Amino acid sequence: MNKILVTGGAGFIGSNFVLDWLSLEKDDVINLDKLTYAGNLENLASLNGNPLHHFVRGDIGDAELLKTLFSEHQPRAIVNFAAESHVDRSIHGPAEFIQTNIVGTFTLLEAARAYWNGLDDEGKKNFRFLHVSTDEVYGSLAVTDPAFTESKQYEPNSPYSASKAASDHLVRAYHHTYGLPVLTTNCSNNYGPYHFPEKLIPLVIHNALSGKPLPIYGDGQQIRDWLYVKDHASAIRCVLEAGRVGETYNIGGWNEKPNLDVVHTLCSILDELSPRADAKSYKEQITYVTDRPGHDRRYAIDASKIHRELGWKPLETFETGIRKTVQWYLEHQDWVKNVTSGSYQNWVEKQY
Ligand code: NAD
Ligand code: TYD
Repeated sequence: MNKILVTGGAGFIGSNFVLDWLSLEKDDVINLDKLTYAGNLENLASLNGNPLHHFVRGDIGDAELLKTLFSEHQPRAIVNFAAESHVDRSIHGPAEFIQTNIVGTFTLLEAARAYWNGLDDEGKKNFRFLHVSTDEVYGSLAVTDPAFTESKQYEPNSPYSASKAASDHLVRAYHHTYGLPVLTTNCSNNYGPYHFPEKLIPLVIHNALSGKPLPIYGDGQQIRDWLYVKDHASAIRCVLEAGRVGETYNIGGWNEKPNLDVVHTLCSILDELSPRADAKSYKEQITYVTDRPGHDRRYAIDASKIHRELGWKPLETFETGIRKTVQWYLEHQDWVKNVTSGSYQNWVEKQY
């Protein structure tokens, strides 16, 4: 069994994970993705013709398809990225979040359990179901609170984080009840290449270069803990290889930043690498807009467990990662142009 099943591998983090995996590991990747607005095969264009990459368009909620994929490919592991992932969209329309994040994960767990039950003892022992989750399940912190550890009580506040919390609980229950060898990772905010420009960092880069306002929700003092996406990918590989079955690992880069600081940093790097025609700073485009309902004030990840147990630590600091990211967007304006047509325009009109 030298194949892994990756779900949501055409999205932001999933595609970065698949690209890294196939540059480093020998296992084939079966990449199952529904190709919603957030999934984009262009992210995987460099794998065209690579015999180790098998793309399948489909839904994690499709039990028949899952059964066929498991029996055809006999994967040794599943890495579940597939999800609806945007908090603002979950406020406008939570139904898809319930469907994919909860019902979809449940369907995937059921298919995995049936497949796992049919494996021999060795196959059963070595199989892993790795569920990729978020720090947002833990709720919001006050400025002086300690960072989230794995034992922090779940207190999700948005339909997105509540649906992810529900999926985490299902994954946990499948281990405790059925013995399925699961691992769960809860990561902080990611940034880097192939990030869909509905999220803060790529949206600000895209709007800045398009001469549009840079929207700051509320006072801009909400704090997020930022991790370069390739460091997330390396952490997942580490947990998959050596994580203790049934355990949760928090993943983060110890990079807490208020949103306004992030936007100022982006503007300064853009001022240097791609100055405005009028030589003024991109900061001129900053605009304060109505706050997000129920906006979580602060997230912060305590990543000491994964460091202590598995020796993982991030390679990038925020300063190195954010510069690489801006450079990537400047060099890939065609990618941005392609993903910001059609349904993206409808979203921007609804949201701002
Ligand atoms: P994304 O929205 O960019 O990508 C999600 C991918 O899943 C897309 O390719 C989409 O087509 C696919 N998908 C959606 N519904 C599907 C379904 N029913 N069946 C199959 N595929 C489906 O999301 P992302 O930012 O790459 O996040 C990936 C995972 O990581 C999510 O589970 C998210 O909760 C988690 N996470 C994200 C962050 C972050 O900062 N983006 C941080 C921590 C954890
Ligand atoms: P986002 O990238 O949507 O990630 P999340 O909500 O999962 O943390 O938002 C990051 C932070 O930036 C969050 O506090 C909301 C804020 N934000 C803005 O101020 N303006 C924007 O246009 C967006 C998309 C987000």
